[in-house]
Amino acid sequence: MRFLLSGALLFSTALGTAVPRAEQKVDYTGFKVLRLKLPNTKQNIQGRIEKLAAHVLNPGKEALDIVVSPDNLEDIKALVPESVVINEDVGAALAEEGELKSADFSVAAVPSETWFTAYHPYADHLTFLSDLQGGFPTQSEIFTAGTSVQGRALTGIHIWGSGGKGSKPAILIHGTVHAREWISTMTTEYFAWQLLTKYASDATVKSLVDKFDYYIIPAVNPDGFVYSQTTDRLWRKNRQTVSTSTCVGRDINRNWPFKWEVTGGASTSPCSETYKGQAAGDAPENKGLVAQVNSLRDGKGIRLYLDIHSYGQYILWPYGYDCSLVVHNSAQLRSIATSAAAAIRTVSGTTYTIGPSCSTLYATTGSSVDYIDATGNSTYSYTWELRDTGTYGFVLPASQIQPTVRETWV
Ligand SMILES: *[C@@H]1O[C@H](CO)[C@@H](O)[C@H](O)[C@H]1NC(C)=O
Ligand SMILES: [Zn+2]
Repeated sequence: MRFLLSGALLFSTALGTAVPRAEQKVDYTGFKVLRLKLPNTKQNIQGRIEKLAAHVLNPGKEALDIVVSPDNLEDIKALVPESVVINEDVGAALAEEGELKSADFSVAAVPSETWFTAYHPYADHLTFLSDLQGGFPTQSEIFTAGTSVQGRALTGIHIWGSGGKGSKPAILIHGTVHAREWISTMTTEYFAWQLLTKYASDATVKSLVDKFDYYIIPAVNPDGFVYSQTTDRLWRKNRQTVSTSTCVGRDINRNWPFKWEVTGGASTSPCSETYKGQAAGDAPENKGLVAQVNSLRDGKGIRLYLDIHSYGQYILWPYGYDCSLVVHNSAQLRSIATSAAAAIRTVSGTTYTIGPSCSTLYATTGSSVDYIDATGNSTYSYTWELRDTGTYGFVLPASQIQPTVRETWV
């Protein structure tokens, strides 16, 4: 929101106040999503595109999706050889996404499946977790993995089976590292909900829960998530400031202390959507997550890591930082991803692209999958990009929550 943000800054300067401004919610009426075909001399225009775009969405290999205001549309189109409008009106897509719905938590009870028919305010997600946990107190507990920039606890649920708490290798699952990827909060919560509510009645679930200890954090970027609900629906990063810039936020998924210093897979500009931070692991969220990963590694070890994102329908594995490297268990990672993609296609017809992260999508440094593979010693490590392929992008309609969480659970 480069130009809208600078408008807001001028406003607060005119008032001559240092008090945090009550930011107006960003209005995306008339904004379009464009898929840009990039010329070969990509570096030269990337910066200009970033300046003109309201947001850079998920970049692909030769294409880049951006949100652009009506005023900047023609200037952007002129920069690239080809562009296609993939969403005519982001404001209308937001209306179709559905209002945030507060759930009825008046009586503490295990949440019902209707939870997965709407998006919810952040506070309700915490209640969802504690109500779910409250229904299964002998095989789950709420944990926190550190604290965000603004002091919110990174809150998760730990689930175990017949072997008792902490007796088995870990399956670690993160959602909503990128604030705007709301479907990932719902999907990771669905995993937790299924594991607990189906344990007694479903033999497959029981065997899965008896075999591993699950650590599920549905929103590892709570500040960004709240900001995406109150102010800018398309916010991605955390809410950390730097003294050298008025731009806010580090990309938590470019800040992990593994190959952070390698160039080409993150930005050194605080205004970029992929700003890596000033030093490896210097985001408070990363500090907490790193500590938990290391402690799980040093305990029973990590068997599987899933970092759930949207959008694009990809299942990706290490490495992000170097496109020529082949991870030692590449064949197994590919075989599992192939089965997962086939299972999803069978239930719903949704198609996934699979492959090593860097060569399949784009280079990323300081990413969670690389850290948790290499330093966390996780047997398997995946980045998962949920629905869709760009029609709605991050603002997937509420009517697609249940189909998405169900196919992904399968
Ligand atoms: C990594 O995990 C394997 C089991 O998957 C274990 O045998 C090995 O000791 C672990 N290494 C470290 C350094 O933790
Ligand atoms: Zn993401």
